[in-house]
Amino acid sequence: MLGTQTDKKMNAVLPSLSRFSVLVVEDDPLQRELLSNLLRSWGLHVFEADSGESAFEFLQNTKEKVRLLITDLQMPRMDGLALLKKIRRERPYRFYSIAISGLGDRESIQKALKAGASDFLKKPFLPEQLFARLAVLDRIVALEEDYYALVKGLFDVMTEMLGSRDSYTLEHSLRVAALSKRVGMRMGIADEELEALELGCLVHDVGKIAIPDDILLKPGPFDTLDRKIMNLHPNIGASFLEKRYPDLRVSEIALQHHERLDGSGYPHGLMGKEINPLVLIVSPCDVYEALVAQRPYKRPMDKESALDIIDEEVRKGRFSKDVVANLKEVLKEWDPLAIKKNNSKELDLIESFRKKTYFREPLCSFYNYRYILSLEKEQLLDATDKYKLILIDFENIGEFNRRIGYLKTDEILDEIGEKLQEILNTLHEWNRPSEKNALLFRKGPDFLVFTSYPKEVNEKIEQQIFDVLKVAERDWGLKANMKSKEFTGSQSFSKALDIMVGI
Ligand SMILES: [Fe+2]
Ligand SMILES: [Fe+2]
Repeated sequence: MLGTQTDKKMNAVLPSLSRFSVLVVEDDPLQRELLSNLLRSWGLHVFEADSGESAFEFLQNTKEKVRLLITDLQMPRMDGLALLKKIRRERPYRFYSIAISGLGDRESIQKALKAGASDFLKKPFLPEQLFARLAVLDRIVALEEDYYALVKGLFDVMTEMLGSRDSYTLEHSLRVAALSKRVGMRMGIADEELEALELGCLVHDVGKIAIPDDILLKPGPFDTLDRKIMNLHPNIGASFLEKRYPDLRVSEIALQHHERLDGSGYPHGLMGKEINPLVLIVSPCDVYEALVAQRPYKRPMDKESALDIIDEEVRKGRFSKDVVANLKEVLKEWDPLAIKKNNSKELDLIESFRKKTYFREPLCSFYNYRYILSLEKEQLLDATDKYKLILIDFENIGEFNRRIGYLKTDEILDEIGEKLQEILNTLHEWNRPSEKNALLFRKGPDFLVFTSYPKEVNEKIEQQIFDVLKVAERDWGLKANMKSKEFTGSQSFSKALDIMVGI
């Protein structure tokens, strides 16, 4: 490798190209110097190589953003054609090359273009001839930059659209992108690769847009069917991208981010070299973020425990040791949880509505009792001091169903439920603006009331419920039992529910 760089000139005549570097490959020292100086006089950042081998080695190891190669074709050992072919295989994206040669016949030109050259210039040439070519290239590079910015914008929109279905995934994608990019930078991958890595991470989970709320919002662990449906997201995401976006690395990140080096991943059980090298960076970052972040069904894990799990995956041969070593270094200086994305007010409203309706009993408007567990998790209930649960069940419901039919029974239960809800609504009006609350839930044919009101209010609630149930027994012969129990704020609802039903 010969030569060094010059300072970039201000007011470059080739403004887009001058933001990148040019590599000049020429075995003749005089010609190389002339050409390099010419390029520098136009404000370009030039590196020089005296052979195909040293040029390729430079490209493999440099952190410079080399976008253009100008290579002589006739050189000893690895000639220009061999170099072009090798580059086309290894760096197929956004890289331009101009072949220069003493031969200018059609066959030589065709050979060079076939080998991967983007342009051809016959030696000797006038500086203006080269400049004209570079001016066109400068325009292409400018358009490409605009294109990248547009695609990045579109991918941001896709991520935000997914975020409006699943607010957690928006933060997750942004964090995985930032973390993977940092790891990639530490590993010294080229800038152009970093861009593909970032784009891929932004949309890696975009397939989750097709996953039903029943799974996305599920507060507990997944069962086999849930898992099966959830595991379709890489395929769905990749199918959105691969037909429309030409950079395969991006759709491969979406498709392969749950693949593991030992073949234990999904959807295809790929192994080792079958997995895109960029994916090897994404996977541990994806898992790390998922472990340390808060999700609807789990509490966040601390950094050390999360890294222990990742280390275990390295030991099992699932994650790249090198990537994980770099990930740990990055995490010493930076925490991905620093990225926070708040929803807009409108989205927050939609989100809370979706969560509520998720817990609604089908065919009626009452909330399923599981909703109380979710409210507890999100600390949306005021039960710091103490709370009371009132369970209402109907002892002859089976016989009732047989006698007047399920639908009619349901109608009656709905009517009772509405009366109970009315009691709580009126009470709420009276006690405004109290922080305290009383909520009604449906539990199959039973009802459950949660209340954090003081004792005297609770007594009123119970009296009024009792009156409603007496009327139900008089009108329909439905025999109701009412049990109530007070719990301290530290008692979890799931335990309290177990106690209520006598487990
Ligand atoms: Fe995923
Ligand atoms: Fe993910």
